Amino acid sequence: MGEILETLREALQQAKSVAVLTGAGISAESGIPTFRGPGGLWRNYSPQELATPEAFARDPRLVWEWYDWRRGLIAKAQANAGHLALAGLERQIAQVGGRFTLVTQNVDGLHDRAGSRNIRKLHGDIWLLRCVGCGREERNEQVPLTALPPRCTCGGLLRPGVVWFGEPLPLEEWGRAVQASRNAEIFLAIGTSAVVYPAAGLMEVAKEAGARLAVVNAEPTPFDADADWILTGRAGEILPRLL
Ligand code: OAD
Repeated sequence: MGEILETLREALQQAKSVAVLTGAGISAESGIPTFRGPGGLWRNYSPQELATPEAFARDPRLVWEWYDWRRGLIAKAQANAGHLALAGLERQIAQVGGRFTLVTQNVDGLHDRAGSRNIRKLHGDIWLLRCVGCGREERNEQVPLTALPPRCTCGGLLRPGVVWFGEPLPLEEWGRAVQASRNAEIFLAIGTSAVVYPAAGLMEVAKEAGARLAVVNAEPTPFDADADWILTGRAGEILPRLL
């Protein structure tokens, strides 16, 4: 892996435009469980069963219990060496006048805490609540949240401000993510199983526009065949070595 790492580090030093897509794997070393693979289930439910508008309509209490559990883990967690390395990479690229965009599928806010700046959050933010009735949003960092699903002042149920399966992505964030992927000389996919669309499609957008692709993940992904660099292992160990 040493030589592959070395060539990617050199390429990143010369790149004027870099886009990164992160997934749950980058926060695994902070103690936040990923969605797929070992530890991906909560009380035998998969995320596909819980992270949907239908599940929330059917059983808001169950869905809130799951989010409350994740909020508790995230509140206790800290950004790890992988998050910090990406914030460092952004500074390194800014110093030479380059562009850096960090697109994340994560809702945990650990990239913000690590000091990253240009973040595009495709799947929302777990600390935002949104009323299903009037649409009002509020920031709420209370842990644990109420035993019953929280309610808006209008009486409507509050839901987590995240994107669920079957829902559209936030338009502006998505538009900027596509733009950054099209402009990228190097596109790094980190800690993502790369099976959830449209997010995973950014790798196709980047590749078609001529980017070189690097995959940093604990296990193989569907994009390995297209990758110019494949680094298999823990993001928290690999990413600091790219600076
Ligand atoms: P997944 O849980 O699908 O994939 C996480 C990936 O990270 C797996 O391929 C792991 O092998 C890898 N991994 C685990 N630990 C790692 C480590 N320390 N370093 C590097 N890689 C590691 O998570 P996502 O791809 O983020 O969406 O999932 C995408 C979306 O599906 C999520 O945003 C969420 C989920 O359901 C919604 O809730 C809408």
